[in-house]
Amino acid sequence: MIFASLKEIRPHEKRIAVTPEIVQKIVQWGHDFLIEKNAGKESGFSDEMFEKSGAKIMDNPKKIYAQADVVFKIWGPTREEEKYLQQDQIIIAHFEAQNNAEQIERLKKIGVKCFALELLPRISRAQSMDILSSQSNLAGYKAVINAVFYQDKVVPMMMTAAGTVPPLKFLILGVGVAGLQAIATAKRLGGIVYAQDVRKEVKEQVESLGGRFLELKNEENFADKTGYATETSAEYQKKQKDLLLSQLKQSDVVITTAQIPGKKAPLLIDKEMLQALSQPIVIMDMAASSGGNVEGSKDNEWVSIGSAKICGCSNLVSELAPSASKLFAQNVFNFVQKAYDLQTHELIFDANDEIFAKTNITQNI
Ligand code: NAI
Repeated sequence: MIFASLKEIRPHEKRIAVTPEIVQKIVQWGHDFLIEKNAGKESGFSDEMFEKSGAKIMDNPKKIYAQADVVFKIWGPTREEEKYLQQDQIIIAHFEAQNNAEQIERLKKIGVKCFALELLPRISRAQSMDILSSQSNLAGYKAVINAVFYQDKVVPMMMTAAGTVPPLKFLILGVGVAGLQAIATAKRLGGIVYAQDVRKEVKEQVESLGGRFLELKNEENFADKTGYATETSAEYQKKQKDLLLSQLKQSDVVITTAQIPGKKAPLLIDKEMLQALSQPIVIMDMAASSGGNVEGSKDNEWVSIGSAKICGCSNLVSELAPSASKLFAQNVFNFVQKAYDLQTHELIFDANDEIFAKTNITQNI
């Protein structure tokens, strides 16, 4: 078989879906690996490193797609790339499938076999392939690092002969994988951390990391059977807004990560709340590309509203491209390894295994 990975076309994307280490493993299985020229450059993997691992470097994406049986990508193909795809070619990537129904229909017509790793079931067997977890974890870390850089105060409490500097106060909204890592990172730096989520079960996780969970008394739990958050009621939103406003007034840094799969992100901080603040406050809206948790935030931009500086930052992992690529590539490899038959040297995707059934968006395995 011929495997391949290409340069990502999406703006601000520096990651690559394979590393030299993974190429070496696949070449040892007895296959070829094609890499687009300079595809790993921004992740710290040069063409020479890939060549040493056994890859062949090519500079024409069209020719790579024409030959490849299996393609590893960070993001699913763009409209331009779709023109190059071949029938029965296997593509493994993040397809944003829940928002891309039209593209999926086109991919089905082309006859490619697409696996959307963001749809992996959140079961323990699939944890080593879980791109959402590996990437959100890094993004949560980076959100805190960036926020601290833009907040002109020290994080830990400092008791000096000249007086005491109080610790920075963080507010983390949404305690999934990114939120938990944001709490852990802010705590490690010495901050005081408050967090809120609609899923009550995370209270214990927040507290085990040393954070303080902001609770709405007697409110129901907004989560479905799979553990994902659902939309909240109007009554809940009103109470949540009051709770968050009083906490915002005391906060120096806010990281928002709240998402509902397949839906617009919930608006948690509106302009009225922002206008009510008077202290300098840095807000990192990690949900900016899915509608935003903060009114007025723009993805990949900074905006100022009242005393708040707000950064829309949905793809922070790209700023950690070497680490993020390493974990993403390992997730993809673990997925492929699960399907790999060591006797026949073929990929066999068992349609009865929910790992393959749930990720196969073109329904043709
Ligand atoms: P996510 O990115 O879908 O959402 C982030 C957080 O926002 C969630 O905690 C959600 O409850 C919260 N949220 C949604 N609406 C909100 C609102 N209106 N106000 C406040 N918070 C709100 O989350 P992620 O990281 O994908 O995790 C989702 C679920 O998957 C969790 O139950 C998590 O424990 C589970 N999970 C399971 C794994 C496994 O392998 N078993 C691995 C990773 C996550």
